[in-house]
Amino acid sequence: MKEQIDRQNIPQHIAVIMDGNGRWAQKKGAMRIFGHRNALTAVRETIESCVDLGVKYLTLYAFSTENWSRPQDEVNALMEILINSITNEVPTMMENNITLSSIGNIQSLPDSAQRKLQEAYELTKSNTGLTVFLALSYSGRWEIQQAVQDIAKKLVNQEINLEEITQELISAHMNTANVPDPELLVRTSGELRISNFLLWQMAYTELYFTDTLWPDFRKEHLWEAILDYQKRERRFGKTGAQIKGKG
Ligand code: IPE
Ligand code: IPE
Ligand code: MG
Repeated sequence: MKEQIDRQNIPQHIAVIMDGNGRWAQKKGAMRIFGHRNALTAVRETIESCVDLGVKYLTLYAFSTENWSRPQDEVNALMEILINSITNEVPTMMENNITLSSIGNIQSLPDSAQRKLQEAYELTKSNTGLTVFLALSYSGRWEIQQAVQDIAKKLVNQEINLEEITQELISAHMNTANVPDPELLVRTSGELRISNFLLWQMAYTELYFTDTLWPDFRKEHLWEAILDYQKRERRFGKTGAQIKGKG
């Protein structure tokens, strides 16, 4: 299947909603947390295939603003898994020239998680291959709210005027400043929704949904998503004929 992928048409930026850990565990008669603990292989395989295909940015939705309302035990377990995973994965990231970064309200995370993330940013910041963004305590509306507040502050302080509030300026005030919008979104577990992910950035993203639960997600599943993406015609409001250069 990998051979069918057109290497000239690889998305630069892939976003993933890693969903279905809880149901994966429950199907096995285990606690939800067991699903989270078994999610790392899928993360690793996704990262490896992105490196292999030359994807430039991968944004992984790991914990949403709304996920803070889960039972405290589950939230604690997720934070612990986050810290351990970063510790374990940083050496591999160094070997593969990967930069680790994040988006979201990082200051709301426990201090230990913030320190671990900071450490990983510092270690990997000079790498030049794939950049992996972990979306942590992230939601699209939160991000837009932050951007509006930042821009309003500049306006009040007369650092900018009204006409300077362009779409480019708004993009530059998002957590993803300087990162191209994702061309492809993958969501696992069969849910057909965005769940407050990258609302501004996904205006023209191609959406791909699969019933596979996140802990079962492997390289083949990502290849399948990319192949599906490559079959689509991205029209951006134009006609098909225009896109084919015949319009
Ligand atoms: C995704 O799996 C992981 C997080 C949201 C942190 P879920 O925990 O949402 O699993 P389901 O959707 O309940 O199966
Ligand atoms: C979205 O999954 C958030 C992450 C994958 C981190 P959820 O499981 O929280 O989404 P909903 O609540 O089903 O929409
Ligand atoms: Mg879920």
